[in-house]
This record gives sequence, structure tokens and C-alpha cells, in this order.
Amino acid sequence: MAKAIINTNRSKGQISRNIYGHFAEHLGRCIYNGIYVGEASDIPNVNGMRTDVVDALKRMGIPLLRWPGGCFADTYHWQDGIGPKEGRKKIVNTNWGGVTEDNSFGTHEFLELCRQLGCEPYISGNVGSGTVQEFSDWVEYCNMGGQSPMAEERRKNGRDEPWNVKYWGIGNEAWGCGGNMRPEFYSDLCRQYSTYLRNYDSEHPIYKIASGASEGDYNWTKVVMERAGHTVDAVSMHYYTRPRTAEWADRGPATGFSRNEYFSTLYNTFGMDELVENHSRIIKQYQGARKVGLCVDEWGTWFDVEPGTNPGFLYQQNTMRDALVAAINLNIFNNHCDTVVMANIAQTVNVLQAVILTEGAKMLLTPTYHVFEMYKGHQDARQLESYVETSMVGENGCQVPNLHISASEGRDGVLVTVANLDDQNPAELDCAVSGLGKISRAEGRVLTGTIGAYNDFGAEENVKTVPLAAEVTEDGFKATLPACSVAAFTLK
Ligand code: AHR
Repeated sequence: MAKAIINTNRSKGQISRNIYGHFAEHLGRCIYNGIYVGEASDIPNVNGMRTDVVDALKRMGIPLLRWPGGCFADTYHWQDGIGPKEGRKKIVNTNWGGVTEDNSFGTHEFLELCRQLGCEPYISGNVGSGTVQEFSDWVEYCNMGGQSPMAEERRKNGRDEPWNVKYWGIGNEAWGCGGNMRPEFYSDLCRQYSTYLRNYDSEHPIYKIASGASEGDYNWTKVVMERAGHTVDAVSMHYYTRPRTAEWADRGPATGFSRNEYFSTLYNTFGMDELVENHSRIIKQYQGARKVGLCVDEWGTWFDVEPGTNPGFLYQQNTMRDALVAAINLNIFNNHCDTVVMANIAQTVNVLQAVILTEGAKMLLTPTYHVFEMYKGHQDARQLESYVETSMVGENGCQVPNLHISASEGRDGVLVTVANLDDQNPAELDCAVSGLGKISRAEGRVLTGTIGAYNDFGAEENVKTVPLAAEVTEDGFKATLPACSVAAFTLK
């Protein structure tokens, strides 16, 4: 029996809903086919956006969407994607498969998508190959309500009111595909760009996010914070999970992997905790009186592409292993909600750790989707201190704790989310909740399967959430978590 304790008297504060954010790039079949099919498509759509995908993302509670990249952002010239579609420039997507990008999905379409989803837009601007003027004009185009050249241009293109886009990323991976810069050089550019990204409405100030470090590059965060921290509201960081021994060139398959690959992937996922702690510590050291947040604006699993698919499209299946990676990361972000202000899983549809896969008109929800759906009660809820007794499981030097937990108190009561990483043994949980009085109801749901279980076209409901019995006790509740599972309990 594993003892867990939820202490409702201790909290790190509110869990920003933006921790449950997503990322959609012009990459493979994420935007085109996956989300946007165009008004003329036979696939049911509203203004070109797939109805099935939009509805599913809404049900999952998507709060925020980052776009247009990724690496694509630093090659993207936003003015190519406005105005009549037939006149839009056709370009080559040099980062992702060398395919033609016809710019039919641009600023208006992205902001229409966010309107349909009811989520906040987060736009990454081009610093690598753009200009300060171009980026500054984009903000003016989106946010200027009165008279100005960019506001007039927007009106000419059919949109009168400003969108008041709040979140703006100053480049992406400036240390790599975003320009191969040194942190010193990027910091100066960040200061310069930041100066010309203006507020056009004092009631809707913009929120600027500096391009951050790759994984454990703490020097990047230190230099950027020291030199440009005062010009931004947050700094980003990217961390992708791969099996432990894999090089970037050989990441292993997304399905049909070994037990060792399962545990090594989970082992590496725990690296997020250390990365978040260390980057946050550096940010705090240099932030001065003003809080600067940490945005993990790209995270997720990165495996080999599905055999026979375009290597530049990063299409991979999604199994219970991915579900556990998602559960661990989201628990980590919840438990660091005092510093992590945003996180964006890569990427929403058909790319890397996607929550949705499509094939023509067909769509399925991945195990990762179900984790986001089960965890949505954490959005904007008050994080609660939680602890669970664990033992170590795993093999070949990749031992991980068998259980991982986070908890919060929100509109619907207390939400406790627990993952059982042990692929062979169920876990009996005896959870005490202090400071709440006797609870009257405990409702459980669980997602479970073998480590490699996944949903496929023709077997869309192979992995899905089902109710899980939870018994109310004197001081909390008891439940048995199946092997390899993610569970959510709502206590009232
Ligand atoms: O998500 C795929 C790519 O990973 C992004 O374009 C880039 O930012 C990162 O390296």
C-alpha cells in the first residue's frame, strides 16, 4: 500500500492554464491537412478549419496555441500570408521536407483558429532572417485599434477590430535553426527587437518571451537574463524526451519498443524536473524586482518517424509510454507553477507527441490527448502540496519511482492526478487529504494499457479513459491503480 498525502494548507500558487498550452508549426501535416483543409474541402470545416479537430481540442480544454514555429518561424515572413489567397507567395519550407508552402494559412487564419478554439494565440516572430521593422509591423497589424498604416492594411484584408495578441516570442531556438547565435549576440538582438514591439492598448499589454536554452544550456539562460532579462516577461526553454541511449540520429521507434526503451524514456522525462529547477533558479537570480517567467514552449517525445513517411514530417505514433511522459511532465509543471508560466507540447496534430492524428477525413485521439483531458481541472486551479511513497522500478540503470503525483484545488473540487509507471504491478494507493475535512465523494478515472498500446485507424478506442473505483476513507480515499496507468481523482 502506497501512502499519499495532499496538504490543502500548502500551495505554490495558481497553476497557469497556459501550462496546458500546445504548439502547431508549419511542419508536415500539422497545420495543413491536420488542422486546416481550406473552405473548399469535402472534410467538414468552418472557414477551412476541420470541425472534428477543433471540437476535440475544445473538449480537451486547449488554453493557448503557439504558432507558426519552431524553426519555421525564423524563415516566415508574415506579409506573405495576408491578403487574397490567390496572390499569396509560394515558398519552400526549407526546414521541413522542402515542400511548397502556399501561405494559405496565415495570420488571419491562425487567429480565426484561436477564435474557434476559444484559446489564446502565441505568435513566434522572425528574428533569424527577418527585420525589426517586419516584426514591429506584425504587432501593429494585430493590435492597433486606431489609425495606422498596419491597421489600415488589416482593415483592407477584412478585419476591423484588433485581435490584441498578448504573447509574442522573440525568435525561436536562436542558438540553432533560429540563427546559430551566441547568447551574447542574441541578447543584444532581443533588446533591440523588444524595444520596437509596442503596446497599442494599455488594457492589453503584450507579453514578450525571449528565445531560450536547449535543455541544460544554463549559460544561455544566464547570459540572456543578465543582458536582456529586463526587456522581456519570460524566457523559454526546450526539452524533448528520447530514450536514454539514443543519439539524435537513432531515437528508436514510437511503437514496438523494448521494455528498456520504455524505462529509459521515463527516466529521461524526469530530467525535466532538474531543468525547470535550475533554469528557474538562474532566472530568479537575475530578474530583479520584476518576475520573469519560464516558458517550456516546446516539450514532448521525439522518436523515429513512422516507416514509409517523409522524414521531414516528424510523424510518429503515440502509445501509453507517451501518456506517462505527458503525465510526469504535467505533474512537474504543476508542482513548479510558481516559476513555470507556460508550456507547449510539440505538436498538436500529426507531428511528434501529437494529441490528435488524422488520415484523410479520419481522426483519432492519442493516449496523450486523454491525459490532457483528464488533467484539465488543474488549469487555473490552486496547486496543492502532494507527496506519495514510492519504490523504484525499471532496469539497466534506468530506475524510476513507480508513482508520480500532483494535486490542485479548483472549481470542481480537489483534483489528484497519479501515474503508475510500473508496467507489471498495480499500485494500491491510500491517499490522505489534510485540511479539507471529510470528503463526501471521490470520483476516479483511469487510462491504462500495455506500455506499447496505441490507438490506430480502425481501432480508435483501444486506449481510452474508463471509470476507476475509489473508496472514501476517514481522511481521504483509497484506489488501486492498474499497471502502466494514469489516474485522475476528483474529490468533493
Ligand atoms: O518541434 C520540432 C522542432 O523542434 C521545432 O521546429 C524546433 O524549434 C525544435 O528544434
